[in-house]
Amino acid sequence: MPAPENKNATQARRDFLKTTTAAAVGSSLLTLPGLQSAVFADSSDILKVGLIGCGGRGTGAANQALKADPGTRLVAMADTFGDRIESSLINLGKIKEISDKIDVPEENKFTGFEGYKNVIDLCDVVLLATPPHFRPEHIRYAVEKGKHIFAEKPVAVDAPGCRAVMESCRLAKEKGLAVVSGLCWRYHQGMRETFANIHDGMIGDIVSMRCSYNTRGLWSHERQADWSDMEYQVRNWLYYNWLSGDHINEQHIHSLDKMAWAMKDVTPLSATGTGGRLTRTQEIYGNVYDHFAIEYIYENDVRGFSRCRQQDGCAVDVNDQIVGTKGKADTMSHEIKDHSGKRLWKFRGKSKNMYDAEHEELFASIRSGNPINNGEYMTKSTMMAILGRMSAYTGQEITWDQAWNSQEDLTPPAYEWSSMAVAPVPMPGVTPFV
Ligand SMILES: NC(=O)c1ccc[n+]([C@@H]2O[C@H](COP(=O)([O-])OP(=O)(O)OC[C@H]3O[C@@H](n4cnc5c(N)ncnc54)[C@H](O)[C@@H]3O)[C@@H](O)[C@H]2O)c1
Repeated sequence: MPAPENKNATQARRDFLKTTTAAAVGSSLLTLPGLQSAVFADSSDILKVGLIGCGGRGTGAANQALKADPGTRLVAMADTFGDRIESSLINLGKIKEISDKIDVPEENKFTGFEGYKNVIDLCDVVLLATPPHFRPEHIRYAVEKGKHIFAEKPVAVDAPGCRAVMESCRLAKEKGLAVVSGLCWRYHQGMRETFANIHDGMIGDIVSMRCSYNTRGLWSHERQADWSDMEYQVRNWLYYNWLSGDHINEQHIHSLDKMAWAMKDVTPLSATGTGGRLTRTQEIYGNVYDHFAIEYIYENDVRGFSRCRQQDGCAVDVNDQIVGTKGKADTMSHEIKDHSGKRLWKFRGKSKNMYDAEHEELFASIRSGNPINNGEYMTKSTMMAILGRMSAYTGQEITWDQAWNSQEDLTPPAYEWSSMAVAPVPMPGVTPFV
């Protein structure tokens, strides 16, 4: 059983989310001395890396961070659960290339909801890989402490979270801190060249886009006798909207981010959508949907059609097509054709592993003193997913402005290892927009 938590933490989160839209937060932090980023120009300068969220992706990110730069050391780790820290360390220790770069003494392992602060205090670069609910607060604290950030996608589960992240990333830019996003396709060479050709006009003006993330079900952990409701939910975070933002946010964001990329990150005007749960109706699936279909409406009547599902036994289809006045791009095959079907371009180069690439570019940017900041697009793409979710949950057309200004705050009543009711599954036509 994890240690008890501070009962005021959820109220603190709510207050922080309410106030961070105010520029006052940024400017007050800027006046504090000693918060500018440290300089690590020489590769012999050690960059201390901290990991928060020691599951599958966090462990992968730690591996990539340690490989990316000769001067990186993993010095501190936090997870709500100690067993996840230990399994992560075991897995990392098996990787020969990095095993001598892991230096996490017992006193630098932190459990519970508040351990992130200790890790951020101890490191120069923090890897944020918890469920997305916690990302706004973790990003805020890292920026406040002047630390460089790798932030897994998505970066929030609600609009107050997105507004807070946007503000933190603005502040990170002012303080010269790196913020690299785990929206990894943006670091894939084949994809980069495909989108560069789209932006250079190879398909003409964009008319419509289609993307799908149709896949099978994911993992779940069986309830153990000594787990509270909260522990069960955090361990099975995918299935609780307050933790994951539903799978349109947690997984399909990769597709929506490519639509956003094609549109040069100009945001849609509105979305109308549908969704529900047909195959994952059991209690173990919490309160998330198993399918969504959303239509995003842009200026000049450009349309983006998005579908995603997590249903076992159904066809898998993860792809995106961007259609323009002169041709069509198929992003996954990195190929562009005209409307007669004649190939205009195909990527023939080699793409390095995009997860390696994002860390190599992150650390190179820190060393060069020219830190990358992906804050704006990673936040807008998260908001795009949340906008789609809002339209499906309510059954209404929701505008971008409504969604961005939404007051729906998914903070739970308390961050405590105790009982916690599951919010009802949203019902289109009944669930209100907040
Ligand atoms: N970019 C990608 O391709 C990709 C792939 C997989 C996952 N992800 C993202 O990475 C994140 C983590 O996913 P995962 O697959 O590693 O999940 P996971 O369940 O394997 O790991 C999450 C870890 O975070 C811990 N955790 C939960 N709340 C915490 C808190 N408040 N403080 C500290 N630790 C906490 C959990 O105990 C768990 O060990 C998610 O946002 C997910 O969407 C990205």
